[in-house]
Amino acid sequence: MWEGAYKLARGLLFRMDAEQAHHVTLDGLCWAERLGLLRAPAYEGDEGGVTVMGLRFPNRIGLAAGMDKTGEAVDGFGALGFGHIEVGTVTPRPQPGNEPPRLFRLIREEAVINRMGFNNPGLEAMLRHLERRRTFRGVLGVNLGKNFDTPNERAVEDYVAGLRAFYPVADYVAVNLSSPNTKGLRDLQSVNAFAALFDRLLEERRLLQAEHGIYRPIAVKVAPDLSPEQTADLAAVINRLPLDAVIATNTTIDRSAVQGHPLAGEAGGLSGRPLAAKSLECLRLWRSELSASIPVISVGGILSGADARERLRSGAALVQVYTGLIYRGPGLVSEIIRETMETR
Ligand SMILES: Cc1cc2nc3c(=O)[nH]c(=O)nc-3n(C[C@H](O)[C@H](O)[C@H](O)COP(=O)(O)O)c2cc1C
Repeated sequence: MWEGAYKLARGLLFRMDAEQAHHVTLDGLCWAERLGLLRAPAYEGDEGGVTVMGLRFPNRIGLAAGMDKTGEAVDGFGALGFGHIEVGTVTPRPQPGNEPPRLFRLIREEAVINRMGFNNPGLEAMLRHLERRRTFRGVLGVNLGKNFDTPNERAVEDYVAGLRAFYPVADYVAVNLSSPNTKGLRDLQSVNAFAALFDRLLEERRLLQAEHGIYRPIAVKVAPDLSPEQTADLAAVINRLPLDAVIATNTTIDRSAVQGHPLAGEAGGLSGRPLAAKSLECLRLWRSELSASIPVISVGGILSGADARERLRSGAALVQVYTGLIYRGPGLVSEIIRETMETR
């Protein structure tokens, strides 16, 4: 149903500036949902459902962080069939992000380079937006970041603020340590910084659990540019902690897969098809290093149902998409649901 319509829309959208096209799409999606033009997802029947992090997911596909940075499009994306939606990254205070242009399409490569820099309305506005959602019945994740001007020594305070704010409303939170567009952020993936940050954050979760009488899983989102040694060291730390999942991966700073492209020199993170092999390799590595009880959510270069199936076969518990949605449109969601029903 989507293929023809999206081909038409894509032609128009790709003639616009990439960021403008993003806003037009989200606005259109929200209006279509409000007008009842989108069919509600068929969550009934539990065949596709799966329990991960102790939560029941209606299917295995989620919207990756960064698509809905404000929390205003949850119902719209929910109506496309996503079983989970990760909003954010949200920082405690609002911030504008980097100067445009900051989003670039590499069309033939089915890729994107972005250096958005956590443009977001801040946690209070995000909370208000999330309270307005009406129809989404899937799992809601909130992806937490730190403000660009918070030094790394105090980063944990930003994550604690996010955890406290969203504890009552998010089904899970994701701690984003892997965006390449916030200076120094990825340094928090070094073993010592990582262990110190999660000691504090997990202690805070213990207090919040007692206060609210509810357990909220915490996932960590990692970069695809960690070496196998760094991955093994981090996995050893995670295996000792009550952390609930690893989301692998964020965008890459590696340009070897798009060498020679006129836009390859743009600073930022690369996503889409050129990230696929690396993201799959990361999934396999994380899966082999982590205890079996810690699920891996795979994201990066998933552009078809077959890609998603391969991730599940390689040990992913769930998958997420971002760039695939730009190139394939909403039909990608139903394709993945259909093709992953019987997997695992
Ligand atoms: C424009 C853009 C903005 C993004 N913003 C965020 C973000 O705010 N937080 C985050 O954790 N990941 C963010 N991501 C990364 C995606 O969530 C995802 O991990 C990455 O793009 C790889 O998946 P893909 O190849 O399906 O796009 C962003 C990606 C893009 C393309």
